[in-house]
Formats: sequence, structure tokens, C-alpha cells
Amino acid sequence: MKPTNNRKNEHVSLAEKFAKETRKSDFDSFRFVHHSFPEMSVADASISTSFAGLEMASPFYINAMTGGSTWTKKVNEKLALIARETGIAMATGSISAALKDHSVEDSYTIVREVNPNGTVFANLGTGQTLENAKKAVDLIQADALQIHVNSPQEIVMPEGDRDFSNWLTELENIVHHLAVPVIVKEVGFGMSRETIQQLTSIGVKTIDISGQGGTNFAQIENYRRTTEKFDYLEDWGQSTVISLVEAQPFINEIDLLASGGIRNPLDIVKALSLGAKGVGISGLFLHMALRDGVEATILEVNAWKNQIASIMTLLGKKSIKDLSQADIILLGEVKDWCELRKID
Ligand code: FNR
Repeated sequence: MKPTNNRKNEHVSLAEKFAKETRKSDFDSFRFVHHSFPEMSVADASISTSFAGLEMASPFYINAMTGGSTWTKKVNEKLALIARETGIAMATGSISAALKDHSVEDSYTIVREVNPNGTVFANLGTGQTLENAKKAVDLIQADALQIHVNSPQEIVMPEGDRDFSNWLTELENIVHHLAVPVIVKEVGFGMSRETIQQLTSIGVKTIDISGQGGTNFAQIENYRRTTEKFDYLEDWGQSTVISLVEAQPFINEIDLLASGGIRNPLDIVKALSLGAKGVGISGLFLHMALRDGVEATILEVNAWKNQIASIMTLLGKKSIKDLSQADIILLGEVKDWCELRKID
């Protein structure tokens, strides 16, 4: 079906349009040191993990994307089928559209209908009331609520928010009073250790640093502008690898999640080695689901699970937790960043 003129549809079609452009990735500045004796078998590698109090059979999941229109209902249905058949967790896109207009609720509830027993995260932007957070969770019987922080996107978005004065206070209220775990996430601009410090200080326990390197919302929103373009903000933010480096002082205190520009199972293992307990993928899974279809994507997701176990074996690491002991080298800009920010 051809997308109609609607922001939710535009986000999906523009993410698709720009996904085809190859970008440099800081994951290429991260190398594992190869050792010749793994001293284990692939069958010994366990890819299970847990975060936000939830047990996960796989360390990667479909991260927040869409809902809010007829076309995106169909996209969510495809993603939910992939999640159900592979047993991976899945997040919906921001449910705020359904809170304003009940007629689009089914574009979100489809995710639960298709996958009644799966792990599903609801999603909302910051600046929402506790009452709306509860409504979003109830709508899809979510296992957790993702709340996204996205100030650069709002600034570049022609119709975006301009007042970010009370984000932390509102977030704190939700974190302390919602019945399900709250995951605070960026949307591809990454996080600094100062941001993570602010989040931990208000009681946030699960954080997805969602860094730069994949879907670029400064670029997407800029493309949607007809005047007063922000071309020079398209490189704003920290990459996923740099954000993970920034998070190092907190890895024993929080459940760290990573997303942003994940291209393959090796990128996932790299993120896990930097302390992430789970890795979210949006743009690439969207691309696979729309281009290759549900069946082919299910095969690919299952292949990724086996390949993660294979890479863990090469590293001689039997669990996701053990991966943080892998020998790694950080090069180039990532190394410079660590030195300038005094991170070991
Ligand atoms: C997103 N993302 C997103 N995030 C969020 O928290 N709420 C949302 O509603 C959306 N909407 C959305 C739409 C589309 C089409 C895409 C591709 C992405 C951001 C997403 O969850 C993730 O943080 C970034 O896309 C970075 O990951 P990738 O795409 O580089 O894997």
C-alpha cells in the first residue's frame, strides 16, 4: 500500500530511503584480539540474557519504530510476526498517536494480537503524564515501557517540541509509579556519561543509549522541512560505540542496552562486549521486513542467533556476561574520544 501523507508514514519511508546510504561506523574502530585456542564448543555458548527484570532467549530485539496509521499497522504486523516466530522481543513506536486519536489504536494492538505471549515494549516520548504512560502500557499489555528522549529530533522536526524544561521531573514520576519497568532510550543521538548520571539519579535502571551510526533523525526531519534547513546538525550526537564507552562507569549499576546502526551479529557481540545486556535493531529489520519479507527475515534472525554463538566461541566466551572480559582494541576517533574524556 502506498503511504499517505502522515508523519508516521514519512518516518518509515524516509528511514528506508536513507538506509540505503552507506555510512562509516564506529563499530569498525572496535577490534577483537584474536586468540587461537577458544577451548570451548559452539554448543557451550549461551546467548540468553536478562534486563529490566525480563528473561530473554536472545540478546537482540526489534527496537521502537512505528504505529499510528493504516500503513504502519501493516508494518507492525510484519514485525510482530517476525518477533513471534523467532522469540525475540519487540517494541512498538510511540503510542502517543493512539492517545490522541483512538481510531489508530489497532496499529499498535496488532503487535499483541499477533504475538500474545511475546515480550513487547510500549513506547512514548518524554513529557508524558503518568496517566498516559499507564494507558500506553495497558493498550498492548506491555512488559515494559520505553520512554524516548529525542531533543535534536524535536528541534529539527518542523512541528516538534520547543520546551524541554521539565523532562527529568516528568520522567522521575513515571519511573517511580509505573507497574512495569521503564527503559529510557535515545533515538540515534547517543548518550553521555552526564546524561546517564542524571538518569540514574532519578531512579532509572534500564537505559538504551541508542547512538548515531544508523537511522538519523536529524536527516529525516531535515528532509521533511521545506525552509530553514538544519543540514549542519545531521552529524549531531555520539556514536553507539562512543556512547557505550561513556556508559562504562555505570555498567554494574544499570541494565545497559545498545542500539543505533547495528549491521550484523558482529556489531551485536561488540556492543555486548562493552557491557550491553541487550541490543536493539530498528532500521535494518525494517528494511529486511519491507524488502525481503517476513519469511526471509525470520530465517535471517535465526541465522543471527547461531552466528552470535559462533562469534562468542571464537572469543572463548560462554555467556553474554563473560563477553565483557573479551580483549578489545579501540582505534581512531573512538580512541581519541576516550583519551579526551579520560575514559579507560
Ligand atoms: C524509530 N525510532 C523510534 N524510537 C522511539 O523511541 N520511538 C519511536 O516512535 C521511534 N520511531 C522510529 C521510526 C522509524 C521508522 C525508525 C527507523 C526508528 C528510533 C529507533 O528506536 C532507534 O533508536 C534508532 O532508529 C537507531 O537504531 P537503528 O535504526 O540505527 O537500528
